[in-house]
Amino acid sequence: MGTYFGVDYYPEHWPRERWETDAKLMQEMGVDVARLAEFSWSKLEPSLGEFNFGWLDEAITVLADRGIKIILGTPSAAPPAWIISANPEIQPIDYEGRVRYFGGRHHDCQSNLVYREHIKRYVTAFAAHFGDNPNVIGWQIDNELGNSHHQLCMCPSCEDHFRQWLQNKYGDIETLNTKWGNTFWSQEYQNFSQILAPKITVTGHNPSALLDWKLFCSDLIVDFHKFQSVILRQAAPGKFITQNMMGFEDKVNYYDLAEDIEFTSHDQYPGGHFHPTQNERKSDKLAAALDLMRATKDKPFWIMEQQSGITGWEVLGRAPKPGELGMWSAQAVAHGADCIVYFRWRTCTMGTEQYWHGILPHSGIPGRYYNELKTFVHKMKPLMKEIQGALPKSKVAIIYSYNQKYAIDIQPHHPDMTYIGHVMKYYTALYDRNVPVDFINDDADFTKYDLVIAPLQYLMTPELESRYQAYVKGGGNLVLTMRAGVKDDTNLCRVAGALPMGGLRELVGVEVHEYDCLRDITGWVLWNGQRYACEMWSDIINLTGAKELATYDFEFYTGTPVITENAYGDGTVYYVGTEPGADLAAKLVDEFITKHDICTWGETPPGMEIAARSSNGTDYIFVINHTGDNRMVTIPDDWKAYFEGQSASINPYSINVYTRSNN
Ligand code: GAL
Ligand code: ZN
Repeated sequence: MGTYFGVDYYPEHWPRERWETDAKLMQEMGVDVARLAEFSWSKLEPSLGEFNFGWLDEAITVLADRGIKIILGTPSAAPPAWIISANPEIQPIDYEGRVRYFGGRHHDCQSNLVYREHIKRYVTAFAAHFGDNPNVIGWQIDNELGNSHHQLCMCPSCEDHFRQWLQNKYGDIETLNTKWGNTFWSQEYQNFSQILAPKITVTGHNPSALLDWKLFCSDLIVDFHKFQSVILRQAAPGKFITQNMMGFEDKVNYYDLAEDIEFTSHDQYPGGHFHPTQNERKSDKLAAALDLMRATKDKPFWIMEQQSGITGWEVLGRAPKPGELGMWSAQAVAHGADCIVYFRWRTCTMGTEQYWHGILPHSGIPGRYYNELKTFVHKMKPLMKEIQGALPKSKVAIIYSYNQKYAIDIQPHHPDMTYIGHVMKYYTALYDRNVPVDFINDDADFTKYDLVIAPLQYLMTPELESRYQAYVKGGGNLVLTMRAGVKDDTNLCRVAGALPMGGLRELVGVEVHEYDCLRDITGWVLWNGQRYACEMWSDIINLTGAKELATYDFEFYTGTPVITENAYGDGTVYYVGTEPGADLAAKLVDEFITKHDICTWGETPPGMEIAARSSNGTDYIFVINHTGDNRMVTIPDDWKAYFEGQSASINPYSINVYTRSNN
């Protein structure tokens, strides 16, 4: 997959005479790849079957003459007006049954067969035309699949596909009735044709139906991707296909989507979509998003869109501080990115994204962003070549599961609880200690890790229980948390004795007969005489073999265990019956680090991060200063400064890189 720096470029937004200037400026900045055409359908097929690829050929040539390779996007995230007026039925229907009309983008239904025919015609011609252009190195299908489709699409076609999907899953309607618990509120179906998408109704929907709907929507997107990838692979073998994902977005299960691409790409916008909370701490969340993207293929990934200026549509975010654009890029590299592509080359003068700033301002005259990135890119290039393919070496994993996320988001228990929020409690505590972490799916090989943290294992199957048992039996160390084993995989509550149910109970050596939802109250935990806050939930725990590490220090269950440790086989299982506050999470992580000899990259002051990639023989260690102040870190003697002139004091929003032999 190589190593590149690139830009997202829209030549069709600019006069033809400007293209050479752009290409020259790009080349001078060190750009050697550009992504084009993912929103250019109306310009490339202005009417049915009339393909107008000439201008794109020309743009590719102009860029290629400057040594810039090309990634082409298929344009299915924005069908043109002539398609919509010929086939208005491809517009999506939302949760409230309303048509979402043409006027922005994503005004499409991904199951609609008429729309698929339009896509097939376009992609076939597109692949045939550009497939043998040696400057085109790969494809991106659609754009950020899942984006804007959260409440979409609930049209008759999607409902038909949903029914078909359910029929394949359950076979007959009696089974579906049982698996969804449809005796409740008289929800039994006589046949599949009665089933609708979970559209606006009077009360809450059936959680089992909602879970299947989410699983179906994810599968539909994977299928939509596959529909295009088959055409591209056949017409143009030898080119990669990638997808620009969106970190913790979840409309599609990214592990599944990643099976149909050569490598994952990610869109990283630290400034966010004009978030009201511009000042909140975010370096941990950015790191986590990068680690999740790496997890989707357990491989280095690309950044396909990296913020390159102020973000904003109608309302704007803060200006990136001097150094920040490079620092964000370097953080991505430290977590496994082999390529960084900046969104966008030049700030657009028209349309919804007039204020989503590019490297160049509206005027096209290079300014601070361009100069900073130019320096950064030239500085980083040799290093990028060296570390290409290397990965962070993690001995700690956190299970990140879309199914658990879907189920918790359907019933968050506490109004402030989210799956990601709970997972991040552990991630952030590890991040603050500079412990490298892998996210993994629950079907991954656990045995590579000294410690596996499995938060909110709410939906449980006998197979997953056995996987956890086998891991611990063989010497693994596992952390399970509140709400483990509560439900089966169709979102029905299990009934076999006390929680955590089934095989997990013996594993953790505790029983939970009662619990408390911490509405409008902060909980307290006592651990070695020290008091720590906890949130959201209390499992009230009886020990049946485990020993207690910490107890509650509030409510009628004061003095009862909240964190426990159980020896099982050759390993250890921890159970955490609450959501830890930040201090308690930090204390837990310290406990794990000490007990299990977990490697960390050392201690850093707040706002600093150390992350590394390891090749055969060498660790490349990135010390990142996310703050606006100079910061010092104590550097071990065997770390060698990688860049000339690197001093012990690290400038605001910048990085130092060190190497260390790992033989
Ligand atoms: C991304 C998207 C781009 C552009 C950018 C700025 O999510 O992929 O096409 O819209 O955001 O809004
Ligand atoms: Zn639809």
